[in-house]
Amino acid sequence: MASALGFRLSKGALTTIAPPIPKAYEWAARYIPKPNLPLLDMSQGVPGIPPPAEVHSALGAAASSTTSFGYTRWDGEPTLRQALVDEMKVVYGPETDLEMADVALTSGCNLAFVAVAMSLVDAGDEVILPVPWYFNHQMALNLLGVKPVPLFTSPESGFLPSVAECKKLITPKTRAIVLVTPNNPTGSTYPPSLIASFATLAREHNLPLIIDETYRDFITTGSPPHDLFSRSAINPWRHTFIHLFSFSKSYCLPGHRLGAIVASPTLLQSIKAILDTLQICPPRPIQMALGPLLPSLRPFISDTATQIEARHKLFKDKLPKGWKVGAQGGYFAFVRHPWKGVTAEDVSRRLAVRVGVVTLPASFFMEEKPQGLVGGQPAEGEEESEDYWGGLEREEEVQEEDRWIRFSVANVDDRKVELVCVRLAKCVDEFGWRV
Ligand SMILES: Cc1ncc(COP(=O)(O)O)c(C=O)c1O
Repeated sequence: MASALGFRLSKGALTTIAPPIPKAYEWAARYIPKPNLPLLDMSQGVPGIPPPAEVHSALGAAASSTTSFGYTRWDGEPTLRQALVDEMKVVYGPETDLEMADVALTSGCNLAFVAVAMSLVDAGDEVILPVPWYFNHQMALNLLGVKPVPLFTSPESGFLPSVAECKKLITPKTRAIVLVTPNNPTGSTYPPSLIASFATLAREHNLPLIIDETYRDFITTGSPPHDLFSRSAINPWRHTFIHLFSFSKSYCLPGHRLGAIVASPTLLQSIKAILDTLQICPPRPIQMALGPLLPSLRPFISDTATQIEARHKLFKDKLPKGWKVGAQGGYFAFVRHPWKGVTAEDVSRRLAVRVGVVTLPASFFMEEKPQGLVGGQPAEGEEESEDYWGGLEREEEVQEEDRWIRFSVANVDDRKVELVCVRLAKCVDEFGWRV
C-alpha cells in the first residue's frame, strides 16, 4: 500500500522514467486469453528457448558444489574470462588482440554499463546516444545526474547514426559516445566501416566509445561485427574502445545475470572499486558451469542465430499490408504501424488489451515528449485513462517517429509469429482508425 515517506528521495530516483516493461505487462494483464487465442508476447527481448541440456546439468552440479557458495574474484572466474576471450577470437577473427586481463565479468550487461558509466562521468556531464536508445542506458545516466544527449536516427538511413551529426553534439561536457549494435530497439546492425568512423571520431576527441554488443552473436553475415579489436587496426583499441557483452541472449540465461566489460586493464583497475561496491562478484555457479562449456556451445549459438534470422524473414513476409519494416536484426524488428494520426503507444496498448499481442512502442526508447493526437475512442475493455484522453489536447499531427513499434521476434516460435501477423491483419479494419 502506498504511504507517505518521512524523508526525501534523490533527484535521480524522482526524475528517472518508470521502467517501461511493467507498463506493457499492465496492458497485457487486461487481455483475457482464450484457449485458441493465447497471449502473444513480443515485448521484452527474452530468449524463446532454454539453453542446451549440458548447461542445465553443469549448472545443477555447480550450484550444489560446496565450492560455489563463496565469493569469487571481483573480475570473475579466470576459466570463463579466458573462454570468453577465445570465443571473441572466433567472432572477431584470428587477428583479435585480446587477453584475459582485458575482461571483467559482471552481474549482467546492464550492470556493466552502470559500472563503466560510473568510472567516466560526474553529475552534470553529457553522454551521446543514438535515438531511439536502450531505455536502461538513459535511466542509468539519469540516475547518475548525467544528460543523455540524443543523436537522432531516421528510417531513411535505416536507423544508422551519423558520425557528422554526432560530431556536432560534442561539447566540453561530453564524456562518452555510446552505441548499441545490433541495435535495441531498432534491430539496425551498424556496418564495420561506420563503427570504425565512430572510433576515429571518439579518438580525435579523446572520448571513450562504448559499444554494447549484447546481440553480436545474432549477426549472420559470417564476417566480424567490426575490426576494432584487430591487431592490425591502425590505432590500439584499448586507447578508446569499451566493449560490453551480455551472456543473457547468446546463452539463453537472462535470469542468471552474467555480462562482461572488455576494456583496457588500466580502465578495469579504475572500475574495480565500482564493481566491488555494486556486486562484489558476479554469481558464481553460472560462471563455473559455463567456463568449461563455452567452446562447445558455439554450434547452439549459430543454430539459434540462423533460426532467428529465418523468423525475421517469416515475420516480414507475413506482415499484413500497411505495416512497414524499418529495420530488422538481432532480436528485433522495428515496424511502422498503418494508422495515420495515432501514436505507437496507443497502438501498442490497444494491441495488447484487445488482441493479446504485446509489443513496445518507440516512445519507450526516447526522451518523454508531448505525444501526437490519439485516434478515436478507447476500445471496449480499455480504461479511459487520463493518459488516453490527454490526446485530445495534443497536436494534430503525429510525427513519423511516433509510429514505430518494436517486435522481439526471438521471444516466440515461427507458429506464433504467424499468429501475430493474422491478428495484426484483423486489427487494420477492426480498430476503426484511419489508415
Ligand atoms: C542492449 C542491451 N544491453 C543490455 C541488456 C541487458 O543485458 P543483461 O541481461 O546482461 O543485463 C539488454 C537486454 O535486453 C539489451 O538489450
